[in-house]
Amino acid sequence: MPFGLVSAWNKRRRSLSYDQIDPWIYRPAQCWQLGEEVLRPKRRSGGGGGGGGASVFTLREMEAATCSFADGNSLGRGGFGRVYRGTLSSGQVVAIKRMEAAPPLREAEKEREFRVEVDVLSRVDHPNVVSLVGYCAEGDQRLLVYEYLSRGHLQGQLHGTGGGRMEWPVRLRVALGVGRGLAYLHSGSAVGIPIAHMDLKSTNILLGEDFEAKISDFGLAKFMPEGPDGGLAMGMQGTFGYFDPEYASTGNFTLKSDVYAFGVVLLELLTGRRAIDLHQGPPGQSLILQLQHLLADRKGLRRVIDRAMPRSSCTMESVVLFAGLAARCVCLESGGRPAMADCVAELQLALSANMRRRHRVQHPSLRS
Ligand SMILES: Nc1ncnc2c1ncn2[C@@H]1O[C@H](COP(=O)(O)OP(=O)(O)OP(=O)(O)O)[C@@H](O)[C@H]1O
Ligand SMILES: [Mg+2]
Repeated sequence: MPFGLVSAWNKRRRSLSYDQIDPWIYRPAQCWQLGEEVLRPKRRSGGGGGGGGASVFTLREMEAATCSFADGNSLGRGGFGRVYRGTLSSGQVVAIKRMEAAPPLREAEKEREFRVEVDVLSRVDHPNVVSLVGYCAEGDQRLLVYEYLSRGHLQGQLHGTGGGRMEWPVRLRVALGVGRGLAYLHSGSAVGIPIAHMDLKSTNILLGEDFEAKISDFGLAKFMPEGPDGGLAMGMQGTFGYFDPEYASTGNFTLKSDVYAFGVVLLELLTGRRAIDLHQGPPGQSLILQLQHLLADRKGLRRVIDRAMPRSSCTMESVVLFAGLAARCVCLESGGRPAMADCVAELQLALSANMRRRHRVQHPSLRS
């Protein structure tokens, strides 16, 4: 299929009967039999999207924005390819992700990830989801253009590569932002069907100058059927350390699999440790296995709080609420995990518990 505008692609998709639709994005196909209303992409109201939906760029424009993909503009590299900082002719600073050549099998996968990313991000609009400014699809070149998030990914911030220490209130706000973004995707309010991210992890959470958190990387995202039985049977996709045990054993991915990954991110925020750390010996390699018995009591909790975090920035009351939520998110059985909307409400409680106490410390006369 010649790849042109996403709108042309959407048009083609609408003209097909449902059993002709590419299975990789429209599984389960019956989810899409909801009429034209659901399929119409949402337009952005402004911000990184530039006010008019994703733009289509030429390769020449991409080269001009990045000084011909100069090494000095490289922000890093992931599974899809290298990411460059760039400046568009409008003056907007952006991050440009360029697909790298891959072996034939992986090539088709990357092409699919590119289209899913464009399709999903063209439909969603939320302050905690990264904005797609546009894309370029010329010949075999595939590039994605995003709003630029100056602090890079959360993992980099937690482990020092992003510079600076993150105080507890900042970690709480990051958790709340990610929670809100994920709750929005799960709610179905974007397209009428819940969206599962399927690769939530600390490197896919980007931070802006004021530590505003944005979920990125939607190449593996799926539209999900509603209801408790909603789940997709598929081969393993995602990242080790974040796999929900049910998904790992049955291949059945549900929205609660995203909640599990969110719980792992909460634990990373609490402890400052990586989800998987191969530098440790076997029992310490997995954050979850390491923490299993430590989250339940205050003494255990005190031992795992990130030492790089200023202790004066947090209250135990807030930490206990936060750790309790994290422990339920990573519950072995999906039925024991909260919905994302509940996670948001509980994180708000943890945030206000921290603010109340700090307020009392600053104003001792208010102590009862
Ligand atoms: N919008 C953006 N603004 C600023 N930096 C970004 C942006 N998008 C990606 N980056 C940076 O580019 C680098 C590579 O990101 P990328 O998402 O390709 O890889 P990853 O998340 O490390 O791995 P994966 O391929 O598993 O997602 C990361 O350091 C990331 O912080
Ligand atoms: Mg990423």
